[in-house]
Amino acid sequence: MKKQLFDSPWLLGTLLLIALSVLGLIRFGFSRFERDSLPPDPIQEGKKLYVEMRCGYCHRLAGQGGTIGPALDDVGFRRTPEWMARHFRDPQKVSPLSQMAPLSLEGDQIRELTAFMNSLGGYGYTPLAPILFKEHCASCHQFHGLAPHSRLDLSTEGKFRDRDFIQDYIQDPQKLNPKAGMRGFQKFLTPAQLADLANYIYRQSR
Ligand code: HEC
Ligand code: HEC
Repeated sequence: MKKQLFDSPWLLGTLLLIALSVLGLIRFGFSRFERDSLPPDPIQEGKKLYVEMRCGYCHRLAGQGGTIGPALDDVGFRRTPEWMARHFRDPQKVSPLSQMAPLSLEGDQIRELTAFMNSLGGYGYTPLAPILFKEHCASCHQFHGLAPHSRLDLSTEGKFRDRDFIQDYIQDPQKLNPKAGMRGFQKFLTPAQLADLANYIYRQSR
């Protein structure tokens, strides 16, 4: 009887098909789960694009690449993300004599290349930093058009304070200034978030 069962090509085929689709569902389910819990890191995606699009043909980075364009090692420190995004959309509009060809990039690619460029030169911050600022700081502080109605403007903070001072102040103001009216954010933000915010404020206010 058993022998007969597996002799039937139809039955065997059906069983195989069921087994394969169950396996497929499990795999699909898992890969979706991984993707959902780990969104792609825009900096890493930008790094891949940098290689794929051969930016290194014209640009030098960590000693590698061409010299038609400027070296990019500290470009994140010299340019704002807004400048970067505008430049990727249309290099000649920002630098009229630029030899950098227009690249016809998609929105995601611009976002990722900008994130990668922005991470170069130290004090990189993530796209979450301005969101953290809005959530935790905007009720008292303005910053380059964020929260224009708040009293205390931090838009030039980095001209007077260094980056570590800013992080220390956010963490525990009374440690630096016993009369500080601002409360510390040690308990409300993770160390990574504190660093992200400090980098964002420092870099965007120099
Ligand atoms: C054909 C050569 C060429 C290629 C390819 C090229 N660039 Fe450029 N790039 C330039 C030149 C020339 C400049 C300087 C003029 C300007 O600002 O546009 C420049 C400027 C830049 C700047 C501003 C640098 C600064 O110091 O202000 C960034 C950022 C940049 N390129 C990134 C990229 C990225 C990322 C790619 C790949 C997607 C790329 N470039 C591809 C030639 C090139
Ligand atoms: C409830 C109001 C309030 C909130 C919310 C607030 N601050 Fe402040 N902050 C102040 C006040 C007031 C000062 C002026 C100095 C003082 O009294 O502490 C200040 C000063 C600062 C300074 C300048 C210190 C200096 O002397 O150069 C920095 C940097 C700063 N805040 C960052 C932040 C950041 C980042 C956040 C959000 C995580 C934040 N603040 C949230 C009220 C606030």
